[in-house]
Amino acid sequence: MSDSPLVVAIDGPAASGKSSTAHWVAERLGYRHVDSGALYRALTLLATREAGPSDGWTGERLAALADRVRLDAVPGGFEPTIDGAPAGDGIRGAEVTRCVSLVAQMPAVRGWVNARVREAAEGRSVVVDGRDIGTVVFPEAPLKIFLVADPWERARRRLVQRLGRRPADAEIAEETERLVQRDAKDATQTVQAKDAILLDTTYLTQAEQVDRIVALTRALERGVSPEADPA
Ligand code: CDP
Repeated sequence: MSDSPLVVAIDGPAASGKSSTAHWVAERLGYRHVDSGALYRALTLLATREAGPSDGWTGERLAALADRVRLDAVPGGFEPTIDGAPAGDGIRGAEVTRCVSLVAQMPAVRGWVNARVREAAEGRSVVVDGRDIGTVVFPEAPLKIFLVADPWERARRRLVQRLGRRPADAEIAEETERLVQRDAKDATQTVQAKDAILLDTTYLTQAEQVDRIVALTRALERGVSPEADPA
C-alpha cells in the first residue's frame, strides 16, 4: 500500500460522466473529489450575474471576479462558493453551460482554476476531473483516465439526469447538437494524455466504469502501474 498521496486524473468531453464517476470512485477509495469544471462554472455564474453581456467579458474582468470564488472543503470533496456561500445548482443551468467554454478559453482563468485545483489536492489523495487534468494540471499523475462515449448516449444520460425521466428522441437530438457544439469550443483544452487509459463507456453501466477505475487505483496502491493505451 502506497503511503504518499495519489492523484487520479479523469478527463473527457462534455457529459462523458467524468464528475459522477469521479465522485463515486473517490467515495469508494476514501479519496477527495475535485471537480475542476465546477469552478469554471461558478465563475461563469458570477459573470452572468454581474459582468453584463458575455461578448464584453475580458480576462481582466473575469480575473477580478475570481477573487470572490473559492473551492471549499466539504465531506468527500470540495464545493465552489461565491462570496462565501455555496454556488449551488445554478452552475448547471443552461445560461452557464452556454457561456462556460468562453470563460474557460481565457488563459488568466485557466491559470486561476489550475492553482485552486492544485491547492485542493495538496497533501491528500484525490480524484480530479476535467479536460486537461492529465496533460496540464497534473501531468505526473500516476493514473489517467480519458472517458469517452457516443454523443447520442452522452446526451441521453445528461437528459435523464436533468429531467428525471426518459427523454424523447427529438430532445436527445437537440441535446446532442448542443454537446457537439460545446465539444468543438472546448477542443483545444480537451486532450488525451499519451499515458492515459481510454475508457469508452457507451456500453458500460456507471457501476462498471467505477469498478474499473477503482480496480486500477487499488493496483497502483499496491505498486502495479497501469498500461496506457496509445493516444
Ligand atoms: O460535466 P460537463 O462535461 O458538462 O462539463 P464540466 O466538467 O462541468 O465543465 C464545464 C466547462 O468547463 C467545459 O465545457 C469546459 O469549457 C470547462 N472546463 C475546462 O475547460 N477545463 C477543465 N479542466 C474543466 C472544465
